[in-house]
Amino acid sequence: MFTSEIQTIEAQIRAHCAKTNIPLPEKMDWRPLPFSGESGIFTSFFQAAAQEARQGQKINVPQRAQEIAASVAKALGTLEGIHRVEAVKGYLNLYFDPSAFARRVVDTVLQQGEDFGRGKPKNERVMVEYAQPNTHHSFHIGHYRNAILGEALARLVEFAGYDTIRASYPGDIGLGVITVLWMYDKFYKGQEPEGVHERGQWLLKLYVEATNLLTPREDETPEEKAQREAYDAERREMYRRWDAGDEYVRALWLETREWSLQELRAILEMMDIHIDVWFYESQVDEPGKQIVEELIARGIAEDERPDGPVIVRIDEKLGLKKEKYRTAVILRSDGTTLYLTKDLALAKIKFEQYGVDRSIYVVDTRQSLHFQQAFKILELWGFPQAEKCFHLGYGFVSLPEGAMSARRGRVVLFKEVADEAVRRVLNEIAEKNPSMPTEQREAVALQVGLGALAYAMLSVDNNKDIVFDMDAALSFDGHTGPYIQNAHVRAGSILRKAGDLPSQADFSYQLSPYEVELVDLIARFPETVQQAAEEYRPLVMATYAFDLATAFHRFYHEVPVLQADTGTQRSARLRLVAAAKQTLANALRLLAIQAPEQM
Ligand code: ARG
Repeated sequence: MFTSEIQTIEAQIRAHCAKTNIPLPEKMDWRPLPFSGESGIFTSFFQAAAQEARQGQKINVPQRAQEIAASVAKALGTLEGIHRVEAVKGYLNLYFDPSAFARRVVDTVLQQGEDFGRGKPKNERVMVEYAQPNTHHSFHIGHYRNAILGEALARLVEFAGYDTIRASYPGDIGLGVITVLWMYDKFYKGQEPEGVHERGQWLLKLYVEATNLLTPREDETPEEKAQREAYDAERREMYRRWDAGDEYVRALWLETREWSLQELRAILEMMDIHIDVWFYESQVDEPGKQIVEELIARGIAEDERPDGPVIVRIDEKLGLKKEKYRTAVILRSDGTTLYLTKDLALAKIKFEQYGVDRSIYVVDTRQSLHFQQAFKILELWGFPQAEKCFHLGYGFVSLPEGAMSARRGRVVLFKEVADEAVRRVLNEIAEKNPSMPTEQREAVALQVGLGALAYAMLSVDNNKDIVFDMDAALSFDGHTGPYIQNAHVRAGSILRKAGDLPSQADFSYQLSPYEVELVDLIARFPETVQQAAEEYRPLVMATYAFDLATAFHRFYHEVPVLQADTGTQRSARLRLVAAAKQTLANALRLLAIQAPEQM
C-alpha cells in the first residue's frame, strides 16, 4: 500500500549496501508483518548473504544475514512514518507509527472509494467460464454454487487488474437433452406451463418421467419391455434426426432450449451476473470433428477406426512412465464427438478468437480428470496457454434432508431455496424493524437473503462438500453474510447520525487496540485482492470480509465514536468508520453480495 515510502526506504538501503559492498538482489521483497498489535512491513537479507557466500566468501549465511540487517537498521536512522526499526534473525522489520499509519490508510480509502484495492492493469486476459448448466434441466443449488463462485472469481480477477471476460457454456445437446425433447414431443406438446421458472422446472419433470419410461425394470412384462424398447428406438431416431439437422427436430430443440435459457438468464439477472460471451456445446460439435483430423495428422492422436475410436495416449506422448493422464478417447468409432472433443474445440476458440491468456473453468470437481486430460492435449497440441488453464473445481451441495438425484427428480431448486431465504428475512424484519417501510423491506430482504446464500457457498473451501443449513446461513451472528452486512449497516447508521463527515482528521492520540486492529485489516485489503485473484480462491476474500466485520463489530462495541472524549477523536473515528464501511462494501461487492444501508 505504501509503494512510494518503500521506494524511498529501499533507495536508502541500496545506497548503504553499495557503499559497503553488500550484493542486494535486483528486487527486494517487502511484505506486511503478521499483525501483533502493531502494523508494519519486513524484508530479509538471506539472499544478499547467500550471494556473498556464492562469491566465495566463507560465511555462515543466517549469521551474515543478521549482520547485514543490523547494519541496515543502523544506517536507516529515523524515518518518516516509521516509529521503530528492528533487525532480528536476518530480517528487517519496520513498524509504522500508528497515528500516521491510521491517517494514511483512512485518507487513502476515502479518497479512492470504490476503487480502493483495485490492482494495476496487468495486460493479461483472463476468461472465467461458469454458470454453464445443461439445458432442458432445472437450475439447482449446485448450479448456484458454481455461478456464485465463478462470479466472485471474475470480480476478483477483474478488480485485481486483469482484463476479464465472463463466459458461459451451457450443455445444450446430448442424450439427456434428446430424452426431454422426445418426451415433450410425444406426450406434452403445447402443454408447457406459464412463467419462466415454472416452465424451466417443468422440463426436469419431463426428464424424470421419461427416465422412468425408458429404464428397464426387473419385474417388467414382455409387453412393457416391448413398449420401452419402442420408446427407446424413437428417442434414438430423434437424436439421429437432430444430428442430420432435421428442421422439425431442430426447431423443437431450439424452442425448448430457449425455455431453459430464459430461466437461466432470469436467475443470473437476480444474482447480478452479466455474461459477456455465450458458447454452446452444440456449436463446437462440428469444429471438434475437424480438430480430431488435425490431431491425427500431427501424430498426436491415433486413429483406430473402424474397429476402435480415435485416441490420445497422453501419458505416452508426455513420456511419463507411470499412469497419470491415461488414454483419452476423442472420437467414437461411429464418428461422433465426445465432451472432451468439444472442449478442445472450445479452448481453441477461446485462445484464438478471444485472445485469452488464462482460461479458468469453474466446474464440478468430479470432472477433474477430464480437464487434466484436456489441458495436457492442448499442451501437446502446442498451445502455450495450456499452462495457464485452470480448473476451479467445487464440491457437492446438499440439504440436511439428503442428497439430490436428478434422475429421481430429487433436486433442490435454487429458486425455492432463495425464495425461502428471502421470506424468512422478511419475517425477521417485520419482527425486529417494524418501522421499515414495506417497499424497502422487500429490497432489503432480497439483499440479505441472497447475501446469506452467497456467503454460505463462498465461505467454504471450494473442494469441500456443503450441507446447506438455512438457519445457520441466515444468522446475524455467525460466520455468515448477514453478519458482515450488519457491520456495514452499523457503520452506516453511525455516519448518518453524525451528519457531515469531517474532511480530514488527525489520529494523533493514543489509539485503542481496536482501532489499530481495524486499521491494520483495512490496509490489508489490496493485497488480499491480489492474493485471492492469483490463487483463484474467493475463499480468501470471504475470510477477509469476515475478519474485517469482526474487527468492526468489536470496535463498535468498545470504542465510542459519536460520544468520543475529544473533537479530534470524534473526527478521526468517524473517518475510520467511513473507511471501514467502504472497505466492507468493496469486499462484499467482490463476493457478489450486496451491502445494505439498513436491515
Ligand atoms: N455443462 C456442463 C455440466 O453441467 C459443464 C460445462 C463445463 N465446461 C466445460 N468447458 N466443459 O456438467
